[in-house]
This record gives sequence, structure tokens and C-alpha cells, in this order.
Amino acid sequence: MEAKRLAGEKAAEYVKDGMIVGLGTGSTAYYAIQKIGELVKQGLKIKAVATSTSSEQLARELGINLVTFAEVDSIDLTIDGADEVDPHWNLIKGGGGALLREKIVAAASKQLIVIVDESKVVAQLGKFPLPVEVVPFGFEQTQRKLAELGCEPQMRMIDNQPYLTDNGNYIFDCHFNEIKDPEALHDRINQIVGVVDNGLFIGYTSKVIVGSSDQTVTELTRA
Ligand code: 5RP
Repeated sequence: MEAKRLAGEKAAEYVKDGMIVGLGTGSTAYYAIQKIGELVKQGLKIKAVATSTSSEQLARELGINLVTFAEVDSIDLTIDGADEVDPHWNLIKGGGGALLREKIVAAASKQLIVIVDESKVVAQLGKFPLPVEVVPFGFEQTQRKLAELGCEPQMRMIDNQPYLTDNGNYIFDCHFNEIKDPEALHDRINQIVGVVDNGLFIGYTSKVIVGSSDQTVTELTRA
């Protein structure tokens, strides 16, 4: 937790007056949002777009000025967590189920700062099961098509019920174990009818901040 806090608080230092800021989702993004909330109380003036209903609620409690895409054309800086980061700064995201809104916000952002603890930095993506957001209608067929790509898609459950995203969709966690060509896999998954999006984030990351258990924070250099 301390490593996540260090990364989150370091990233908040990049938020400047007048910026439109994307607020990520998850336990690491939580610390960045908390810090941004503190800075707002001290007079920082920003507008923010949240990537989930939970981050929206947290931001509201902290007095952060929230806006929607009806009010802004682009986002200056987004700070978000990740489940895995590879040496090219490609990501697996969606462990917290917010991958679709996170990707919409990342795609609209001039800069994406990824905040992680050291356990998330990997040589190759795929040990973490890849989350895929799927429309409920006909999900059995979509699941079969996903399995044909060489994974074991498992429907995410909560309290013995299918987990529902903020968009009312299901998540299938797909165990690939190793993803040799993230870009190709991203495209093949998204070509399946019934898939809304998947948790591979290719080419969005501008900076990676890593918090470590020895209390240090480092910024990665890209391969
Ligand atoms: C949510 C995400 C999170 O950023 C990711 O799961 C990392 O979460 P945490 O910071 O709690 O480890 O993609 O959809």
C-alpha cells in the first residue's frame, strides 16, 4: 500500500493549475486522487473527468470539480494504475473492471501517467488474465470466440452473480499466460462481435512511475 501511495502522490505533482485531468480507477489511483483533492483544497484549480463511478464519487467527496466530455474536447493529463506494464509501456488494465472508460479517457489524453508498484512491471504481458468487456446478449457465443484465440475466458463474478461494469456489460478474464504480440491480440479480440473492448492499452503511456517497498519512487525509461 505504501508503494502505491508513493507512486500516486508523485504523479499528482504533475497536475498544474488550469489542467483538465483524467482520474483513474483502483487502489493506486485512489492515492493520486486523494493528493489531488488535498491540492484542490489548497487552491489548485482544475477540471476532472473520472474513469468510473467509484472515482467520480471519491472526487466529489474531495471537492474536485468534475466535468464530462460534453464540456471538454481533450484531457491534458490522466493518472491511472495498471495490472501489468511491459518494457514498451504497453499495459494490461481492467483488474478493477473500468477498462472501457479508462481507455476512452486515455485515448483523449495528451499525457497518460501510469502509477504502479514494482510487482506490476513485467518482461512480457499475459500472466495477469486479460479483462475483456462483453455485451450480455449472446455472451456464450462471444466467450466461445474468445476461447478460439487460445485463452480460457472466465466470467467475472461477484456474490455469485455476473459482475457488471459501469456500462452494464460483463467482463471475461482471459488467461493467455504470455502475450507475444499485444497489438495483434488487441485487434483480434476487438474484431469479435459482442466484445466492447479489452484491457490491452497500446501506445497510450507517456510516463511510468513505480513505487517500491523500500520507499523509493522511480520513473521508468522506455525500452
Ligand atoms: C481498473 C484498473 C486499475 O488501474 C488496475 O486494475 C490496477 O489497480 P490497482 O491500482 O488497484 O492495483 O485498470 O480497471
